[in-house]
Amino acid sequence: MVKFKDIKGFVFDLDGVIADTSVYHSKAWHQLADELGVQWSDELADNLKGVSRMDSLELILKTGGKENDYTQEEKEKYAAKKNANYLDLLKGMDSSAILPGIADFLASLEANNYKLSLASASKNSPLVLEQLGLAKYFAEKVDPAKLKHGKPDPEIFARGAQVLNLKPEQCIGVEDAKVGVESINSAGETSIGIGDVNVLSEADINFTKTSELTLANIKKAMEVGEV
Ligand code: BG6
Ligand code: MG
Repeated sequence: MVKFKDIKGFVFDLDGVIADTSVYHSKAWHQLADELGVQWSDELADNLKGVSRMDSLELILKTGGKENDYTQEEKEKYAAKKNANYLDLLKGMDSSAILPGIADFLASLEANNYKLSLASASKNSPLVLEQLGLAKYFAEKVDPAKLKHGKPDPEIFARGAQVLNLKPEQCIGVEDAKVGVESINSAGETSIGIGDVNVLSEADINFTKTSELTLANIKKAMEVGEV
């Protein structure tokens, strides 16, 4: 069992953990699903969390039974359209979009000498971090364009530990997506799931809100043997 004192680094998801941007992703996908005539649902929205841009489009098409209706070129156009809508929604976003407690949590990790890296599937993550004013915390980022497999594959979280020169068991991964928690777990790290406990039941530690994310709460959860 991993002990809190053996933890040296934190590997973060971005959308839905650090900032409220998963709402913007959802909005832009919902708009595209409507255009494609695919029924939107909360379940589809949950299943899209953490999934790469092209895989998200494929999932939407599959949900509507339309997976064979479009050429690769058409799919790329739709994905680009979603991204343009997403970037429009991001315009004017600033540090007020940082989720509750996250700014303090990042500062406390830095003050306590934990290493930090980013394991986001989003190619827009450098831009988002800049807009939020949090880029300084994440000198180490996994480049999603270089990955062979998306979440739930362990690759992205395994890389998140490697870029910090840490072993997976020395790291805690923080996620709001079911596929993200699966990725953390199979990479051999301790997982924190933020959000609906029923959706994120595989996480080692569950918090319903980002404001619960404090070193004291994590220590407590690990000490009571939840992990
Ligand atoms: C993840 C989001 O972080 O990034 C997904 O949870 C999104 O909703 C994915 O599809 C890819 O993002 P982007 O910005 O590269 O299209
Ligand atoms: Mg997320």
